[in-house]
Amino acid sequence: MPNLSQLLTSKSSTEYQRVFNMCREISDQLDNVDGVYVVGGVVRDLILDRQPGDIDLSVVGDAASFSKELSSRLGAAPPSESQFQTFKIDTSDLPAGTPAIDVVTARSETYAEPAALPEVAIGTLDQDLKRRDFSVNAMAVSLSSSDWGTLVDPANGFGDIMRKRIKVLHDGSFVDDPTRIFRAVRYSVRLGFTIESRTSDLISKSIGNVDHLSGARVRNEFELMLAETQLVDMLRISEEIGLLAAISPGLRIGAKAMQVLEEMNESDSIPSDKSELLAVMMFGLNEDEAAQIVERFQGPSNWGESIIGNVDLAKHVAVLDQPSLLPSEVVEILDSIPESSMRAYLIAGPPLPRRDRINQYLEKLQFVKPEITGNDLIQEGIPEGPVMGKLLELVRRAKLDGQVTSREEELELAKSRLPGFLTN
Ligand code: CTP
Repeated sequence: MPNLSQLLTSKSSTEYQRVFNMCREISDQLDNVDGVYVVGGVVRDLILDRQPGDIDLSVVGDAASFSKELSSRLGAAPPSESQFQTFKIDTSDLPAGTPAIDVVTARSETYAEPAALPEVAIGTLDQDLKRRDFSVNAMAVSLSSSDWGTLVDPANGFGDIMRKRIKVLHDGSFVDDPTRIFRAVRYSVRLGFTIESRTSDLISKSIGNVDHLSGARVRNEFELMLAETQLVDMLRISEEIGLLAAISPGLRIGAKAMQVLEEMNESDSIPSDKSELLAVMMFGLNEDEAAQIVERFQGPSNWGESIIGNVDLAKHVAVLDQPSLLPSEVVEILDSIPESSMRAYLIAGPPLPRRDRINQYLEKLQFVKPEITGNDLIQEGIPEGPVMGKLLELVRRAKLDGQVTSREEELELAKSRLPGFLTN
């Protein structure tokens, strides 16, 4: 077995080295721990000389005692058991650069049915590596002193890193866990690897299983993609392999949206606001498609609002081209549209006069508020309740159109219109 101790020391940052060294000490000291390994993405990234992410540790033996001791030595709070025999160490209060740490008991996993969550049993390191998604993620490096730095690589992930390819460990991998299709796209683009041909065939055969995933799991995978710097390439590939359509039949990135995303990507201006990014991506979808997608993703509410907001805006936006439109009418149309959908329209929509109206709303009109408040109306003897809200809105509209220009005029207007509201 090759020895990668070099990677654990010279190639990783001080914060990672500190964790690795502590693991070695604890593993030597605890009798009920037979081995401790760093596994998965960190091994892959250290070999590739990329900045690694969270540390995943696999313990052969008592992972609960091990993780408790590790958090105490790091100065972190006691670990929390997140799933069966999996312990999370929260490092957010530790010095900057300390990675989050997940400790799992080496395990085997079986899937009762496609896309179900796995049934877990305590197992060997070999089983723990063979339950994983891709060969490049199925490597472990020992952190115990007796074999410090030894690479355990039953699926030849090292060879696949050298060949720059993403390869599953067995034919049922995507059926067991269709989230791995998203992962294959993410890793291939992020690492600049190709998806090996058998793996690619298996993706085509099992793409329909994405349908078995819950909305929360699909959304989680989609969000992970949105957070990637090469998002646009990932979306293109997801569309090509049918992954977007497998999420929801109407989910596609239209030609215009794709062109805009590419331009934003080149100028490094992809919106950091996720709802705005979603609104740009989903620009141009029709009402049914948008409704299906929102239902498939099951929340959060701002996601749904942006996607449906695009459709609502598309329905009414043409009116904004009329030159005679009053500011209050612009406000009436745009008040119910989420800002993310308006911003998406400005980015991806056609160059018509309506753009000026949307800009005017975003920059100025939405902030116009009456000078008078509910308290002023109470002092005039107007009772709290829906009537008060309607009066204030009426004053706001009048102010927008320049019909009232002072506090006094606002109050006069409200008082003069009160009888009409009371009789309605
Ligand atoms: N894993 C898996 N199948 C999944 C999710 C995770 O086999 N559906 C395994 C892989 O071995 C992976 C490890 O669990 O390496 C940790 O998962 P995760 O943190 O999601 O991935 P990383 O490899 O750490 O990669 P990333 O850099 O994307 O976080």
